[in-house]
Amino acid sequence: MDKPKVVLGVSGGIAAYKACELLRRLTESGHDVRVVPTASALHFVGAATWSALSGHPVSTEVWDDVHEVPHVRIGQQADLVVVAPATADMLAKAAHGLADDLLTNTLLTARCPVVFAPAMHTEMWEHPATQENVATLRRRGAVVIEPAVGRLTGVDTGKGRLPEPAEIFEVCRRVLVRGATEPDLSGRHVVVSAGGTREPLDPVRFLGNRSSGKQGYALARTAAARGARVTLVAANTTGLPDPAGVDVVQVGTAVQLREAVLKAAADADAVVMAAAVADFRPATYAAGKIKKQDGQDPEPVVLVRNPDILAEISTDRARPGQVIVGFAAETDDVLANGRKKLERKGCDLLVVNEVGERKTFGSEQNEAVVLGADGSETPVPYGPKEALADTVWDLVAARLG
Ligand code: CTP
Repeated sequence: MDKPKVVLGVSGGIAAYKACELLRRLTESGHDVRVVPTASALHFVGAATWSALSGHPVSTEVWDDVHEVPHVRIGQQADLVVVAPATADMLAKAAHGLADDLLTNTLLTARCPVVFAPAMHTEMWEHPATQENVATLRRRGAVVIEPAVGRLTGVDTGKGRLPEPAEIFEVCRRVLVRGATEPDLSGRHVVVSAGGTREPLDPVRFLGNRSSGKQGYALARTAAARGARVTLVAANTTGLPDPAGVDVVQVGTAVQLREAVLKAAADADAVVMAAAVADFRPATYAAGKIKKQDGQDPEPVVLVRNPDILAEISTDRARPGQVIVGFAAETDDVLANGRKKLERKGCDLLVVNEVGERKTFGSEQNEAVVLGADGSETPVPYGPKEALADTVWDLVAARLG
């Protein structure tokens, strides 16, 4: 099979250097990438870098290799165009259909999905001109990723940072598989919990689990891509970049996770509990480090029950019609145990995974069955965590009506 053809447009912002990492991820995962920088982008990263990393010639103007009609061909042949970073100027040109260089010509001739990853100062992002241009592009079907919040050029911080390359890459991969889907969750608020809780024994030790948080992050990212306002309650997910445009609340323990989920669930249309919550915590917390005593056996660790958050929010729904989704990791009798757990917890949907040493935890792929309280069973074949996430949101959206 031919490799999917991706055009990586780069406009002139300091974040252009991050597009090198996006380019590497795209090529290493089997995409044929043609980089089309603007002339100003070359002030930040030179043509030699783009050419060497992509294995293709690079030009900014329509006057090179004119016999190949590049201003038409590159766009026509693409399966995806992603512009990262997209400056305020680039968004304005794209929204108004200007075509004064190779990238803007490519945007006009492309009939494939187009993703913009904006990066600019907060004032420029918030300016009504930019916001109207973004709304125009979205109305026409382009995917415009929300910029991240954080350090900008210089000492400023705020909204306008280019999302991490890993984040943009996941959006591209999803759009290549599903196309630029309708924002069927727009106007909805959804809450996702992710990661694994840690229950401290003393200042340096805890009881934890091996959940990486990747499935929860995929759920948050796909819900945002489908137009939802997303609150992600993340337990110990260090190393995962915040999904763009998502409110992230960091927590440590099950009790903290409960508090954050209950608060966010108050006005939520759906809650998905993908976090691995510890069922028990140490009964006591030692304020100083527990030391071994010569010649003595260790004290046994006494555990007490943690609240069952999924059962609690399913029984006392914060809003009528709120859809609640749980996850179950099972090692044996996967479906039968899943059915029992669904009934016991009282949720609407339960995603049942089979787990083992090498299955699910920390991996990029997942396989599951989604059980419905209405008796339905939706198998999700082995594949990226995004695909499982999309199936969950399909089922949630159907229940929200
Ligand atoms: N969960 C929760 N609060 C807990 C424990 C789990 O909200 N204290 C949620 C998880 O987020 C997940 C689901 O419940 O969505 C399944 O958790 P699991 O621990 O597998 O279920 P248990 O009822 O603890 O069943 P068992 O340990 O017997 O398998």
